[in-house]
Amino acid sequence: MAIVIRRLEEHDGVEGFECGDEPLDNYLKRHAWTNQEKSLIGVSYVAVDESAPFAVLGYFTLAMASVPRHAIPQKHVRGLPPYDLPLILLARLAVDRRFARRGIGYALISEAFRISLRVANEIGCRCIITDAYPVRLSWYERDGFVPLEGSLAAGPRRMFLDLRTVRAALQR
Ligand SMILES: CC(C)(COP(=O)(O)OP(=O)(O)OC[C@H]1O[C@@H](n2cnc3c(N)ncnc32)[C@H](O)[C@@H]1OP(=O)(O)O)[C@@H](O)C(=O)NCCC(=O)NCCS
Repeated sequence: MAIVIRRLEEHDGVEGFECGDEPLDNYLKRHAWTNQEKSLIGVSYVAVDESAPFAVLGYFTLAMASVPRHAIPQKHVRGLPPYDLPLILLARLAVDRRFARRGIGYALISEAFRISLRVANEIGCRCIITDAYPVRLSWYERDGFVPLEGSLAAGPRRMFLDLRTVRAALQR
């Protein structure tokens, strides 16, 4: 399999997509294109195999956001002015379950990191956040995401990754 990750296109094959989570399937099928092209509130990137370049195997969605400075661990905001912290929201990430555990999730999140660094170089943003399902915490922690204080125990947990950490890792 030769995975390519690119921006969602209008005629991509999304109707058969099934990651096992209905809201994530539904977002890709019903909202991702409109949010990207008409509303400009989130851009989705899809993973496809080179041999079937329109069949979507996985996707993620990025949007801009901000959080109050006090929501971020002290050591990451020391010395920063008391403004809300500009950041990138990894709003959705999913892989079709028929293609799970082949590294596509990892390839997608790695691409999200590369895009985030490019954006940070152009317009300034300090971190990536995501709202992770409790069962996925360790999956994100492996990539350096840290749970934020004050997230509810039940339901998605807000996680944070300092883009300086990503930059250092990619420069190694
Ligand atoms: C979470 C999710 C995106 C992961 O996608 P994925 O493509 O299966 O992820 P990866 O293949 O990169 O990694 C998954 C596991 O497979 C393992 N793996 C990766 N490549 C592998 C390979 N070639 N052979 C065997 N195992 C492999 C990884 O080590 C990882 O192990 P773990 O389960 O112990 O963490 C996917 O399971 C999903 O869409 N789930 C439903 C929606 C969801 O929960 N989204 C996240 C919202 S917070």
